[in-house]
Amino acid sequence: MSKATNITWHDVSVKKNDRRAQNGHGSCVLWFTGLSGSGKSTIANAVSSELFKQGINEYVLDGDNIRHGLNRDLGFSEDDRTENIRRIGEVAKLFVDSGKIVTTAFISPFHNDRDEVRSLFEAGEFIEVFVDCPIETCEDRDPKQLYAKARRGEIKDFTGIDSPYEIPQNPEIVIQSQLLTVEEAVQQIFGYLREHFII
Ligand code: PPS
Repeated sequence: MSKATNITWHDVSVKKNDRRAQNGHGSCVLWFTGLSGSGKSTIANAVSSELFKQGINEYVLDGDNIRHGLNRDLGFSEDDRTENIRRIGEVAKLFVDSGKIVTTAFISPFHNDRDEVRSLFEAGEFIEVFVDCPIETCEDRDPKQLYAKARRGEIKDFTGIDSPYEIPQNPEIVIQSQLLTVEEAVQQIFGYLREHFII
């Protein structure tokens, strides 16, 4: 809820569709969601690299990175995660308005938060990508040794251990990351973007 009063929305003369027409492709957010260690950052980065190679305007917003800057005042309580996702949703909307394909890699564990972000966008602009990976596999990989720390009680509110992850009910794309190579996952996403005439 906005606290400011006496503010007026200014219309800008260059519109989203003007930027899309100039770019020669659509803009959208590929909203990756999944457990820590599921592969969402790796796949989001790989998608962005491939888009870049193909001359497509892209940008990556990644959980760990955003928490170093914009959201460094937030922790991992439910309220803080909700605020984290709300802010990222607003940032992603600006990027989509700027004509880019933005990939976001946040655990974003709660339905409501993801649905709130979805509601910021026009139909077809918000593409929820569920990186579906069993927690056992994530925990085996444990690239940052965070599951080990959580099991030892050194990290509280760790997703999948003592903080919930709500599985997406109706995601546009499901990536079974333990069954696919990164390249195959990228191809799956590119297939979706082409089928929906975004690229
Ligand atoms: S959230 O739930 O969407 O607000 O989380 P996000 O901004 O994506 O941040 C997740 C990354 O923070 C690290 N980390 C934790 N994750 C989950 N739970 C707890 N308690 C926690 N503490 C630190 C971890 O590196 C996450 O990165 P990924 O890439 O998901 O492994």
